[in-house]
Amino acid sequence: MGFDRKQVLCALSYALAGMGLGIYMAASQNHGQHVTHAHILLVGFITSLVYGVVYKLWLRAARPALAWMQFLAHQLGVLAMCAGLFLLYGGFVPPPQLEPILGFSSVAVLVGAATMLFMVFRAYDEWA
Ligand code: HEM
Ligand code: HEM
Repeated sequence: MGFDRKQVLCALSYALAGMGLGIYMAASQNHGQHVTHAHILLVGFITSLVYGVVYKLWLRAARPALAWMQFLAHQLGVLAMCAGLFLLYGGFVPPPQLEPILGFSSVAVLVGAATMLFMVFRAYDEWA
């Protein structure tokens, strides 16, 4: 499976999860998880979808090692970030215990974005 399809499948899974949480918030009239909802949808759904489109349009010849690094950094980062935010805003785990996972996941998402920038910068041929 190509990295475009991998990213789009992950993106649409986050769409379901984020919208599900949105519907739960609306139905329960408890908007306490709105930050989690925003990050599931914007970092999980929209950003992964944008990455999928970039792979499809401009990174068909991406080096597999770099593409794996980009995919894993972003997807593991989003998963850890959203799980951490859910536990934080649900009040399930005290904030100090979540700091390492939130810190790690933020850096992982950033590494995913930086690797994507590097790959696009290197992909001269696809833009010719
Ligand atoms: C089934 C669909 C959805 C439902 C039921 C839903 C529901 C909600 C609810 C109840 C809130 C809290 C509002 C507040 O307390 O201010 C919220 C906030 C938010 N939603 Fe959704 N949402 C849905 C889809 C989406 C989608 C598709 C996106 C983005 C791609 C999105 C992005 C956001 C953002 C960024 C916020 C935070 C806004 C703020 O900071 O006040 N939502 N949503
Ligand atoms: C390294 C990754 C990121 C980190 C560490 C991060 C962190 C944060 C923090 C600390 C807040 C404030 C939460 C609060 O109100 O208490 C926030 C809010 C927000 N972030 Fe992020 N963010 C990241 C990536 C993103 C990305 C990529 C997007 C959009 C594509 C985004 C969209 C938003 C939005 C819309 C809000 C307002 C949410 C609300 O008030 O409901 N974030 N973020």
